Amino acid sequence: MYPFTYHRPGDLADALSRLAADPDAKLLAGGMTLLPSMKHRLSAPSQLIDIAGLPELRGIRRDGDSLVVGAACRYVEIADDPAVTAAIPALAQVAGSIGDPQVRLRGTLGGSIANSDPAADFPAAVLALAAIVQTDRREIAADDYFQGMFTTALVPDELIREIRFAIARRAAYAKFHHPASGYAMTGVFVADFGETVRVAVTGAGPVVFRWHEAEAALTRDFRPAAVAGLKLPPAGLNADMHAPAAYRAQLAAVMLQQAVTEIFSAGSGSAAGGVARPRRTAPVPVRAAQYRGDGAQREPDGRSRLSLTVNGRRHDLAVEDRTLLADLLRDELGLTGTHLGCDTSQCGCCTVHLDGQAVKSCTTLALQTDGADIVTIEGLATPGALHPVQHAFSACHGLQCGYCTPGMIMATTDLLARHPDPTDAQIRDGLAGNLCRCTGYVNIEAAVRTAGAALRHRGDA
Ligand code: FES
Ligand code: FES
Repeated sequence: MYPFTYHRPGDLADALSRLAADPDAKLLAGGMTLLPSMKHRLSAPSQLIDIAGLPELRGIRRDGDSLVVGAACRYVEIADDPAVTAAIPALAQVAGSIGDPQVRLRGTLGGSIANSDPAADFPAAVLALAAIVQTDRREIAADDYFQGMFTTALVPDELIREIRFAIARRAAYAKFHHPASGYAMTGVFVADFGETVRVAVTGAGPVVFRWHEAEAALTRDFRPAAVAGLKLPPAGLNADMHAPAAYRAQLAAVMLQQAVTEIFSAGSGSAAGGVARPRRTAPVPVRAAQYRGDGAQREPDGRSRLSLTVNGRRHDLAVEDRTLLADLLRDELGLTGTHLGCDTSQCGCCTVHLDGQAVKSCTTLALQTDGADIVTIEGLATPGALHPVQHAFSACHGLQCGYCTPGMIMATTDLLARHPDPTDAQIRDGLAGNLCRCTGYVNIEAAVRTAGAALRHRGDA
């Protein structure tokens, strides 16, 4: 990454004034897209303004016929929130189906729609649910918001505060996800408001769009048969190494049929489509932001002060603002059990626990962890005894290569903390962010089951 300056503003006004003062500054929330882009040198902001913890951008509430979600709410919070599951269960299901557990722990709703990735899931929900995007200065209707690939109606120094979703009578989302990334190859969100039906398609075109023919057919007759023969013209749809345009057009028809069938058969449907991703059983705590003034925390040489606890030991350090957590652990603290594989947030080799939650340390800035409690693979065992998850990976030969193994073990301990007796589907979802390139997952999954049994026996679960 090119050098930049990291700021954690004291409040929203501070963030906005910094953003307005520097046209090359960028907002940082989850960083799931921005940080990999910067590592690829596709983006070179002069400063990052970390808004992830700002209380003004947080919170989920029901407000009359709307559900209001703060821009900095993370996917996992939206997936688990009772107000969301009660008002728009399909929205919770969208959040729970994104990427992998590590991504869902960091990614935010505001970040997703500010980026307007053509294969992102949330834009389909925002458009189909006729949402209003509330920024620091105006309201933007979803129909006007998404303007093209990675292009929205936002002006450079504009900040999304919250998103106001209209509550549909019933809704469903069906997606065909890419098996590696979890991105929507094509996803269709259907929202029935009684008088009208809205249908939004993501993943198929350069930007999310409404499928007006499907809306008209379903408004006349909300039954699967009403859209059984409907085809989406492939002209203008995305064609890439994953699928040609005609394939995506066919997927759109299939996903539309799945979503409508789900609603029709369930009465008040909510579907993730194809693969129903399990949701977490325990609420995810949100760490309070550790606000700090930049001047007081900066060294004369420009480095920033950082305090964190790693494997029970407190460290007070000075780091370059662009230092990644993975590099801090390996190069500064000598904890080389945390491995780097892809270095682009794909493989999960670098997974560690940040305040008890699995994150990819190659996609986390060290300064984002100021005040945090980090556990690495070196912190799991007790003197003379492996952790039960480590022991199970050894006993079941789940450490086939050894290289991905620390990340697999850290992801597994996180999974078993939330799903003490996981189903096969929960195991696969829990390890969706950790790739085995060498052999396969049979032994790894056996190790997870064995470790779960051992922890339950020990009384940890
Ligand atoms: Fe971090 Fe691959 S995900 S090294
Ligand atoms: Fe490590 Fe397969 S077990 S890559």
